[in-house]
Amino acid sequence: MRTATMRAVRLHAFGEPEQLVYEEVARPEPGPGEVLVRVHAAGVNPPDWYARRGFPNVPAALRPNWTPPLVLGSDLSGVVAALGPGVTEWRPGDEVFGLVSFPGRASAYAQYAVSPAAHLAPRPAALGHVEAAAVPMAGLTAYQYLFTHLRGRVGGTLMVNGAAGGVGHFAVQLARAAGAERVIAVASGRHEEFLRGLGVDRFVDYTRTPAEEAVRGVDLLLDTVGGPEAHRLLPTVRRGGRIAPVFPGDYHRERAAGLGIALDEGMWQVRSSGSDLAELAALIDAGKVRVGIDSVFPLREAAAAHVRAEQGHLQGKIVLDVAGRASSGRR
Ligand SMILES: NC(=O)c1ccc[n+]([C@@H]2O[C@H](COP(=O)([O-])OP(=O)(O)OC[C@H]3O[C@@H](n4cnc5c(N)ncnc54)[C@H](OP(=O)(O)O)[C@@H]3O)[C@@H](O)[C@H]2O)c1
Repeated sequence: MRTATMRAVRLHAFGEPEQLVYEEVARPEPGPGEVLVRVHAAGVNPPDWYARRGFPNVPAALRPNWTPPLVLGSDLSGVVAALGPGVTEWRPGDEVFGLVSFPGRASAYAQYAVSPAAHLAPRPAALGHVEAAAVPMAGLTAYQYLFTHLRGRVGGTLMVNGAAGGVGHFAVQLARAAGAERVIAVASGRHEEFLRGLGVDRFVDYTRTPAEEAVRGVDLLLDTVGGPEAHRLLPTVRRGGRIAPVFPGDYHRERAAGLGIALDEGMWQVRSSGSDLAELAALIDAGKVRVGIDSVFPLREAAAAHVRAEQGHLQGKIVLDVAGRASSGRR
């Protein structure tokens, strides 16, 4: 019997974006508890390009043992095409979206992808596939930080560093529902209108005035930037306040303790969850959360999407349009 095929973007060797090749590959089949999704759009996330480079930012001992050729991508929006044994919660034709098998490996840069049934949720009625594919990883990260990891500890003033990016723009919108009274967004100047439009109370353009000079008294800092200079934000947080790093950073742990600032021991990590995603979808359908799209590329231009991702300064999300005829570029 001839194996069914599909178009996909495969990584042929760890390295630069040119290693992402649009080609014909075997179509996957759903195993027990899995669903085959006809992918309409796939989101692009930082872990995709960390993986493409071979995880140079992950210590060797912790590096995932992935061997090219492989298909990347964990965010998808699409339609259920087939069910694996034992799946009862979905039917062919259902419109779904999801963060697939994260942390772990998924293969959403393709016309078809398999997903554990429990990682999917019904696509929000308010969103098309391109916008829906922008939500899962970044939206769930913001949602799970604020409603699970930091549950009961969100109140007063929340400051989001990296506020215009994928995680940041969802976090500023979810902040109030999670208990914050006031939201400060830190980003570069060109994002001001975007972030004010999402309802932030204060905007700090870090390229003009560093947040550590402009801000004091923050109750909770959600830092999506981190890095070796992360400690410079310590003066913004009040004694008794907390820093939640979304990306690893050097926060001068002892100095933070001396200032009475609570700091997560390690870095908390997002996990696939269809039920959390369904709750986020309800907030989207209620008009409480909007989706920012930085740029859309056809699937075959995944390499160009990675080039855009690594340029940084994103405003919302990058999405690969798998089913449509998107012309590439910024919105
Ligand atoms: N812990 C987890 O489970 C988890 C989950 C998802 C993502 N992450 C990590 O979180 C980080 C953010 O992810 P993302 O998807 O939101 O990335 P992203 O979409 O690329 O957004 C990053 C944002 O940071 C801003 N930025 C860069 N330098 C800055 C600075 N010095 N000060 C303030 N803002 C700055 C950028 O724009 P401007 O500079 O123009 O403002 C951009 O909007 C990534 O490193 C990712 O790996 C962790």
